[in-house]
Order: sequence, then C-alpha cells, then structure tokens
Amino acid sequence: MRKLSSLIPFIVLSCAAAAQDLAQVQLPAPRMEGGMPLLQALRIRQSQRDFAPDPLPPQVLSNLLWAAWGINRPDSGKRNAPSAMNRQEMDVYVVQADGAYRYDAKAHALVLLLKEDLRGLAGTQPFVKGAPVNLIYVSRAGGGTADDRLIYGGAQAGFISENVYLFCASEGLATVVRGSVDRAALAAALKLGPDQKIILAQTVGYPVKK
Ligand SMILES: Cc1cc2nc3c(=O)[nH]c(=O)nc-3n(C[C@H](O)[C@H](O)[C@H](O)COP(=O)(O)O)c2cc1C
Repeated sequence: MRKLSSLIPFIVLSCAAAAQDLAQVQLPAPRMEGGMPLLQALRIRQSQRDFAPDPLPPQVLSNLLWAAWGINRPDSGKRNAPSAMNRQEMDVYVVQADGAYRYDAKAHALVLLLKEDLRGLAGTQPFVKGAPVNLIYVSRAGGGTADDRLIYGGAQAGFISENVYLFCASEGLATVVRGSVDRAALAAALKLGPDQKIILAQTVGYPVKK
C-alpha cells in the first residue's frame, strides 16, 4: 500500500485542479530575437495545406504563441498585435492531439481545458485533423454594436494571423488561416460562453517534405 505522505502532492494538485477546474502548462521562455529578416519573410509568406503529423516541440510552440499574441512590452502588458483601445478582447485557443488549451499570455502558459483531441472539430478540411496544432481565434468583444464586434474581432484575428504567417515563414513551418470551421460545434466542444465568438482558425505544423 502507498504511504499517505506519497499521495499528498497528488491530493493537493487534484484539489487545486478541482478548485479551479484547470491545469496550467508552463511554456519555455519564448525566443524574442533572431529569425529571418522581415522582408525576406514577407517574400515567402504563403498558405500551405499539407502538414506532417509531427508535433511542434515546446520551444517552437512557445515562440509561435508569443509571436502570435504574446506580450512584447511587459511594463504595460501590451501585445505583439494591436487591439481596439487596447482591450485585448481575443483569446487564442490551441487544439492539439493531447487536448485543448487557452493561451495565457501573462503567464506565458497553456491553460488546459479538455484532455480530448478536438482536431476533427477544428475545421472542415481533411488536413486539419492530422496537423499538430490548430489555433482558434476567439473574440470576447463586449462593447459597441454587433457590427463593431464583428469588425473588431475580424481585424484582431487578422493581425494575430499575420504574425503567425510571418513567424511560420521565418521558421520553415506550414500554416493556413481558415474560416471553414463549424463554429457552433467547436464552440460547444470548447464550452465557450455566449459572449465568445470563434472568428477564424489557423493550422500550423511542419510542411510535408516533397
Ligand atoms: C478570412 C480568410 C479566410 C480563409 N479561409 C480559408 C479556409 O477556410 N480554408 C483554406 O484552405 N484557406 C483559407 N484562407 C486562405 C486563403 O485561401 C489564402 O490566403 C489565399 O488563397 C491566398 O493564398 P496565400 O495565403 O498563399 O497568399 C482564408 C484566408 C482568409 C484571409
């Protein structure tokens, strides 16, 4: 029989997880220097739809998320992408084989939401469920008219998406931004609230070598 003392860390973790219903996966510190010259990355930026199944190493995922929607000015908490009145009303969800997560930029961590493979719901195109990472851009824009919310959400997702395109160009990764996603089904699976709206999704992975 296991000693009670050996179970205490597990119990503490379980209680903490039950209390928050969440577990956090710390990402390695992101790399914020180097990469390809910007103009060269712009020259090769493109959409690709053939993905190798290989997962992204934690450091690459960390760099990707920081490039996408990380904090580039820690003093003010401002981000790599602009947002209307700096409201930052967008969350990046990460759908991988091992589960679904929300990126917490402040902690530079992934908040585990579900230990399920939701990649089959992350898009309607066949390559989506075989690619290692699908980013889901979820707006929680609350203010303004319904039009404002859609326009701001679309712009916000566009800025983040282009950061991802340029990062992928620089790192030799394949990516495509996608509107083709069953938003209702994915929102239900991710347990999104009524004020959250899936704007776009973006698949990322290694290109298939030809
Ligand atoms: C708002 C938006 C939605 C898109 N939706 C999809 C999509 O659902 N599936 C897809 O394969 N590509 C999608 N794309 C990618 C475009 O097809 C692609 O950007 C376009 O063909 C130009 O190719 P390029 O990105 O290589 O320049 C989308 C692009 C944008 C901006």
